[in-house]
Amino acid sequence: MTHTTDSIKELTISQPDDWHIHLRDDKALVTTVRHAAASFNRVICMPNLVPPVKNVEDARAYRARILQRVQDSDLNAERKAAFDPRMTLYLTDQTTAKDIEVAAQSGIVQAVKLYPAGATTNSADGVTDIHGRAAVFEAMEKYHLPLLLHGEVTHEHVDIFDREKRFLDEVLAQMIAKFPTLKIVMEHITTSDAADFVLAQGSQVAATITPQHLMLNRNHLLVGGIRPHFYCLPILKRRQHQEALLDVATSGSPKFFLGTDSAPHATDKKEAACGCAGCYSSSIALPLYATAFDSVGKIDTLEGFTSQFGAQFYGLPVNEGRITLTKTPMQVPTGYPYFDGQTLTPLMAGETLPWSIKA
Ligand code: NCD
Ligand code: ZN
Repeated sequence: MTHTTDSIKELTISQPDDWHIHLRDDKALVTTVRHAAASFNRVICMPNLVPPVKNVEDARAYRARILQRVQDSDLNAERKAAFDPRMTLYLTDQTTAKDIEVAAQSGIVQAVKLYPAGATTNSADGVTDIHGRAAVFEAMEKYHLPLLLHGEVTHEHVDIFDREKRFLDEVLAQMIAKFPTLKIVMEHITTSDAADFVLAQGSQVAATITPQHLMLNRNHLLVGGIRPHFYCLPILKRRQHQEALLDVATSGSPKFFLGTDSAPHATDKKEAACGCAGCYSSSIALPLYATAFDSVGKIDTLEGFTSQFGAQFYGLPVNEGRITLTKTPMQVPTGYPYFDGQTLTPLMAGETLPWSIKA
């Protein structure tokens, strides 16, 4: 690999947005909102609460709880004013076309999230029959409300490493053919198959990529001992897939943009006989992405991915504020205080990253 941008030691970019984050709720928001709002202006808040965010009323109340937390935080006035949580509705077998119309007119719902039932954390209320949701998808086309996909098939007999590829072949290709103007984001893609698939579609289909899928592969998860803090869904794949994701993320293609999928689970729920899926990265996401891009000599393409392409896809302006990243090492904290005396272990806890945010 050529390192063409080795000379870049500092980079000032438009303030980034996170197009896929799990903030959780109530007391968890004290930690998660503080971290998200420190780095990001707009964040698309995933609806997989218990119970899920199913309609505009739920979304409005959840957004108010998030905004209250940012006001109560120790962030400066500028960060408080800039933080803009955008909401998603959780698509269930009961969602109607009318729900979509109301959501589109609400001004706070940015997208609708589809979890195949059983795919991941808190997805029990997800869709059991995607083909039965045609009226809802037509309404989303009509009102230009994007569909965010957890793109994995969930049949028990399908190998966990094949679940994303099978979704592309068995579900997504038909959906795109049937709803050709539906805006779709394949969330947290993990394979070269997904990257190629997205590249082959029109501009209405895009993808988000997490820091862990750019920095890690399944060897990091499994060789020399199981690393529960690298366990997330879709699961890390082999190295060739990691490299393919790095290629497209750093290529300057507007189809790929930042979505951390930062998904907090208390440390003791991760370090357990049956550990929860999800990596917590929000607080260090920008240094992580900078490190990943710089590892292939492409730090110069970071800003499109972090701060421009997602806004373009959603038809929103690029943020006016700026943030500076510097090639000055930082140590990732070993943990953060979480609610009720718990701790939260971030991705790469205790490790040194070559890039940090300039104060
Ligand atoms: C997410 C969570 O914990 O909510 N977990 C994960 O592994 N990514 C759910 C999800 O986005 O799949
Ligand atoms: Zn997620």
